[in-house]
Amino acid sequence: MSRFEIIGKAPIRGEISVQGAKNAVLPILAATIMTEEVCVIDNCPYLRDVDKTILVLRGLGSKVMRTDHTITVSDNGYCDCEICETLMRQMRSSIIFLGAILTRCKKAVLSMPGGCPIGQRPIDLHLKALKKLGVKIKEEHGFIYCYADKITGADIHLDFPSVGATENIMLASVMAQGTTTISNAAREPEIKDLANFLNSMGAKITGAGESQIRIEGVCELHGTRYRVMPDRIVAGTYLIAAAITGGDITITDAEPDNMNAICDTLIQMGANLDIGDNKIHIMSADRLKAVEIIRTMPYPGFPTDIQSPFMSLLSVANGTSILVENIFENRFRHVDELVRMGADIKVSGRTAIIKGVDELYGATVRARELRGGAALVLAGLCANGKTIVDNTEYIDRGYERIEECLSKCGAHIKRVN
Ligand code: EPZ
Repeated sequence: MSRFEIIGKAPIRGEISVQGAKNAVLPILAATIMTEEVCVIDNCPYLRDVDKTILVLRGLGSKVMRTDHTITVSDNGYCDCEICETLMRQMRSSIIFLGAILTRCKKAVLSMPGGCPIGQRPIDLHLKALKKLGVKIKEEHGFIYCYADKITGADIHLDFPSVGATENIMLASVMAQGTTTISNAAREPEIKDLANFLNSMGAKITGAGESQIRIEGVCELHGTRYRVMPDRIVAGTYLIAAAITGGDITITDAEPDNMNAICDTLIQMGANLDIGDNKIHIMSADRLKAVEIIRTMPYPGFPTDIQSPFMSLLSVANGTSILVENIFENRFRHVDELVRMGADIKVSGRTAIIKGVDELYGATVRARELRGGAALVLAGLCANGKTIVDNTEYIDRGYERIEECLSKCGAHIKRVN
């Protein structure tokens, strides 16, 4: 177990290159089991979730090597069809392997992924869609047993634009007999990145990034080399780090086109942003303004993953803001910890009312999940005095060496094991 020790009030200034996207690299790595040829994935961040995904790949029989930010996956000529319960419980997003294992093996055995601190995380939409593709599914004793004589293309409508369900349908139908269409598909940029990766393997996917995706089944997929897109949530988190400390940073290797909701909200609060093709420069000296109301929505709406980092910024903004969390039912775990630091936040159901205070003060707080943990680091950066953030392993799931990135830009933050 480790903790961050932060001495607040140092303005964050400098330049940060954005890491590869966690929510793109995980399904891309899962997709590599669908070919016996070598796949080379560049721009893979050093994250606990990537480490766990490598363990899953090795458990299924793949040979995985990592050199710096490049991961090479090669096949040993066989692929197991079962993911052990321990790994599934450690990382519920391993459910994204289901579609890929079915394409390779036509059967799969996974333990139910279960929930996580931010919500129950059901997979009913995944399973309903797979059944339409001809997959037989039995749920027993906490396990999902899947089997398909063959996978046949189908027209699938998602009741909700689920990111994971959209990805699992793409992975399960990419070599199906016939064509699959997904309507009301998730439009997140990570979906488009997965489709681009699959097409580089020889798949025939069109419409990714829109709400209607078409997947024409192909006979085989070949090896490829691919560079993962930058992480828009991590990029947004670092922009907020500058905004919350009255700093001035340039985020490089970013894709601003994927960050409109994040940048628009910062501009609405009064931050000065200079947006280039692959970088964003933020200058934020004065106290920022509250935002009347923010509602998290599926992409291209305001991202749920940036909700808690923004809440830290709203906590010290001038005025009262309302934040409505529409995606996950329990994504305010960080509120109690921010209140310990002097924030004035009231929660009722999925709505948080944040009354900006002049100053937060340092305290010992506890990360309870990934993005809420990042929010506590941001609060510590602007607080008066010393903040200790416990349970950094949650934060390490999605941010590569966050303390190194921030201390390079002037933050007084260190990791204490
Ligand atoms: C992905 O989770 C991301 N994770 C999440 O990022 C992100 O918050 C989420 O998409 C929304 O953008 C990865 O990509 C690994 P969903 P996912 O299926 O696929 C309900 C982070 O911090 N739902 O779009 O699980 C579900 O309960 C993480 O990086 C069903 O009801 O998200 C939730 O309320 C957190 N039935 C909503 O849909 C289903 O079968 C959104 O879930 C599936 C989902």
